[in-house]
Amino acid sequence: MSGHGTPIPMSSHACGPLKGEAHVPGDKSISHRSLILGAMCVGETVVTGLLEGDDVLDTAKAMRSFGAEVARDEDGTWRVRGVGVGGFAEPDHVIDCGNSGTGVRLIMGAMATCPITATFTGDASLNKRPMARVTDPLALFGTRAVGRSGGRLPMTIVGAVDPVPVRYVVPVPSAQVKSAVLLAGLNAPGQTVVIEQEATRDHTERMLAGFGAEISTEVTDEGRVITLTGQPELQAQTILVPRDPSSAAFPVCAAIIVPGSDVLVPNIGLNDTRAGLFTTLREMGADLTYENPREEGGEPVADLRARFSADLHGTEVPPERAASMIDEYPALSVVAAFAKGDTVMRGVKELRVKESDRIDAMATGLRAGGVTVEDGPDWWMVKGLGHGNVPGGQVAQSHLDHRIAMSFMVMGMATQQPVRVDDGGPIATSFPIFEGLMGGLGADIRRD
Ligand code: S3P
Repeated sequence: MSGHGTPIPMSSHACGPLKGEAHVPGDKSISHRSLILGAMCVGETVVTGLLEGDDVLDTAKAMRSFGAEVARDEDGTWRVRGVGVGGFAEPDHVIDCGNSGTGVRLIMGAMATCPITATFTGDASLNKRPMARVTDPLALFGTRAVGRSGGRLPMTIVGAVDPVPVRYVVPVPSAQVKSAVLLAGLNAPGQTVVIEQEATRDHTERMLAGFGAEISTEVTDEGRVITLTGQPELQAQTILVPRDPSSAAFPVCAAIIVPGSDVLVPNIGLNDTRAGLFTTLREMGADLTYENPREEGGEPVADLRARFSADLHGTEVPPERAASMIDEYPALSVVAAFAKGDTVMRGVKELRVKESDRIDAMATGLRAGGVTVEDGPDWWMVKGLGHGNVPGGQVAQSHLDHRIAMSFMVMGMATQQPVRVDDGGPIATSFPIFEGLMGGLGADIRRD
């Protein structure tokens, strides 16, 4: 089932070469942060290239509930008139973050040090996901949280009236947890310090600096030590959101496995903390090049050119790369099925607590399509069959998870039999133009 409507069954059929340019939507992580940080400064933040997927639209609604003005011009430019650090008003209704873990966790952080109370909920997927990883560090500021058993939504957060700054070592590699603590630290006096042992996406740190906060990162024996000085006056910004590498993953992986393909995916953010998939694909022998590398809005950007890659081979993806490609393992596992030999992915326990248990969802669907997959608590392995040899023919369950649905649609472009998903509805959370964009390249995706 899709979160907000009736299921949309979809099928993907073998197609001719994929050709052309794939203009994927704006980066989801940067889009959420643009709205939230825009709501926390005084003045008007102007955002172009915002991802208009359900996840981000839910965050826009939430920011309005906390008192910010959020409006969209006809040309797709978004304008956020913020209320200043510590200026959030108390919402008069429950905040529904839909499918978005990033949305709910970052917003909880942003309101946690304001003297207000807010109740959060989400769809069936989000309401299963762990929130204690965020509410535990927020409690150190003086914030209280009451949710369902297991620290799950719906949950009420009572913001700290006299917040104190915090020093926190993030126990799991999670940019959402790091960001929630930093956003809470904005309205605490003094210095809030967050330490992460493994580098995760650093958009919050970069954007906070861009908005005028005093923030520094030092790499020490303890890990990355991020120090933020509280109660700054954030300055409104003009933001150009780069296109999302996590969405680019789908046309790139499709081009690599569909014979004869040649696809250009322009303007992709290639921040080191996000680019692990592309490094891995190149190690597997994929014909993937970075054209016209440049910097835009403080982020490294390039045009990706992906071509059919006849000599794909399996690889071992090291655990230290996991954070930089955490959302891309489902797509990688599909490419791995078309490679020769085994692809082993280690250090990926976090995949089990995403929009779905992504190891289980992909392993079950791949097995049903004739691919051998082995898995353990924090690793999995796909036994590649080579191009032309992957049977397909299964109906996979998307488990309310956009990336699972899109990964199986990519698989069906090169399998012997079409691949179906029970519900493609969740694709709208991050990549609402997926079907049209892939169809424009030559894919044959149908609503059944
Ligand atoms: C995100 C962080 C990651 C990622 C998610 C987006 C972010 O989650 O999976 O899609 O924007 O901070 P975790 O922090 O749970 O690893």
